[in-house]
Amino acid sequence: MKIIIASDHAGYELKESIIRHFANEFEWENMGTYSSESVDYPDFAHPLAEKISNGENKYGILICGTGNGIGMTANKHANVRAALCWNVDIAALARQHNDANILVLPARFITEEDAFKVVETFFSTEFEGGRHQRRVEKINIH
Ligand code: RB5
Repeated sequence: MKIIIASDHAGYELKESIIRHFANEFEWENMGTYSSESVDYPDFAHPLAEKISNGENKYGILICGTGNGIGMTANKHANVRAALCWNVDIAALARQHNDANILVLPARFITEEDAFKVVETFFSTEFEGGRHQRRVEKINIH
């Protein structure tokens, strides 16, 4: 499975750790940022979200300090379901109930160890469909 990943400066270290930790499990496309120098999260969220929106890639990860700014930006794109996850239960439910296609992590509020568990859970959990399919189909407004 290929995962596209991006962050702002606050998420840079965690992004690099995730790519290193899961180097053999997944194929990665690193869409920046490439250092801890201050940047604006929308400049990284939009290009990644566009690739999910147009079907170029199925799944992504976005990371900023709280996860909120980068997730809010991604969710402006049609067909994007970006879910802020800070523990494994929320990560599992984001896949089971919401068919989330972007995992959003709050770098300043999650340990590296927990972030690894969240990544593992998110990408090994299937969407349940059924009644959740109907709800997910009602999310898009354009
Ligand atoms: C950057 O300082 C911080 O504002 C950003 O990473 C994020 O938390 C915004 O939502």
